[in-house]
Amino acid sequence: MSLKKTAVALGCALGAMASANSINPTFAKDVAPIFQTKCQECHRPGDIAPMSLLTYETTRPWAKSIKQKVVAREMPPFHAEKGKFAFSNDTTLTEEEMNTIVAWVDQGAKRGNPADMPPPADLDPDHWRAGTPDLVLQPESPYTLGADVDDEYRCYVIPTNFTEDVWIDGIEYRPGNREVVHHIMAYIDTTGTSRPKDEATPEAGFLCGMSGDQSTLQLDKLLGGWAPGTPPNMSDAGHGRILPAGSDIVYQVHYHNETGKAQVDHSAMGLHFATDPIVAENRIFLVGAYQLSIKAGDANAEHKGYWTAPRDLILSTVMPHMHYLGKDMTLNATFPDGRMETLLDVPRYDFNWQIVYTYQEPMMIPKGTRFEMISHHDNSADNPANPTNPPKNVAWGEATDEEMAHAWLSYTFADEKLDIVPTPPSR
Ligand code: HEC
Repeated sequence: MSLKKTAVALGCALGAMASANSINPTFAKDVAPIFQTKCQECHRPGDIAPMSLLTYETTRPWAKSIKQKVVAREMPPFHAEKGKFAFSNDTTLTEEEMNTIVAWVDQGAKRGNPADMPPPADLDPDHWRAGTPDLVLQPESPYTLGADVDDEYRCYVIPTNFTEDVWIDGIEYRPGNREVVHHIMAYIDTTGTSRPKDEATPEAGFLCGMSGDQSTLQLDKLLGGWAPGTPPNMSDAGHGRILPAGSDIVYQVHYHNETGKAQVDHSAMGLHFATDPIVAENRIFLVGAYQLSIKAGDANAEHKGYWTAPRDLILSTVMPHMHYLGKDMTLNATFPDGRMETLLDVPRYDFNWQIVYTYQEPMMIPKGTRFEMISHHDNSADNPANPTNPPKNVAWGEATDEEMAHAWLSYTFADEKLDIVPTPPSR
């Protein structure tokens, strides 16, 4: 994850706050409780972050870097501005938490009295964030990424072996080797066309492109995915997705290997079977711009995309998606009564964190509401994430050095009344 953009401007403004803070915070009493709720999910052995923040011993060497990252608001990773609508996965530090961490570092990052330490946080030892899944699917065997391969998209075909249609109401992706798994995406294959490609090679999976083993995105087949910061994809009660009998799951991993060593990965995916009667199916729509013209050197190429809600919707999440040149994205909605609201504002987009913004309250979107997506790309040589140097003209495309601009909406139809009683699958 070397391509992260930094935001240093905020640092100067916020650095001054610590001196105004007269408390004498210690790790045990003041800082550990914050780290438990805001950091440890990722910063613990075997998870995605590079160091553990569980104990004073493992945390102390990182004190300076911790101050820097929290003041710049790079950690915890959450990139949406606070707007009218709150997100349930908002991990942003409160001003008080921020002041406490900064004062702690500035005053020598002291341990304090070990007796003040809170009891350990309740974190799943198997690193599932949404609890133990009903079924764990994995490629048939681990895959070894060569020492000389620095970037690879690999598709694994995982047969579900379901003999009947199965409704799921939750999916969670678990990266195997956190040093090399950059992101994961999966979709349903009911055609059986991907399976022979996997079987044709002796090792697990086969080489595929950035968008998987298919030329066009089939939205009803997509099962979402994972990148650092993506929460488990859990449906509200009564909502779910269908996995057709006999379907395969194409599970794509983007590997990025900067270690110079061969690396073994066996990533996984956990399914939660629906138990409540299903009233509505989860759906995805991409509000995007597809005629992209991003001129070499343009630091602020603007594009817009629109969609009008065909029925009353309940919107549950939005995920902005661009590639490395992505700079910022806004999603607005103009309701039938003329009212306009900003549903999402991500001023500093970062491809390395594909964050899914989950609304705290289900968002009712009346039929006829017009969504407007506004994106900016930075195709200047000053963009450290620019994969091409010197910059070249870039258009829409699925490759790493091409671009996209869309907001993924996940929603249900408010008036859908399926009344399906899910049965546990047999396989
Ligand atoms: C969603 C997972 C996640 C959460 C939550 C999170 N981090 Fe991180 N953190 C990462 C990952 C992954 C990296 C390494 C990649 C990077 O630097 O972007 C990282 C990097 C860092 C670094 C830089 C380490 C280095 O190599 O220099 C610091 C410091 C840090 N985190 C502190 C924190 C603190 C403090 C919190 C909580 C207030 C926190 N993080 C919350 C995932 C997380």
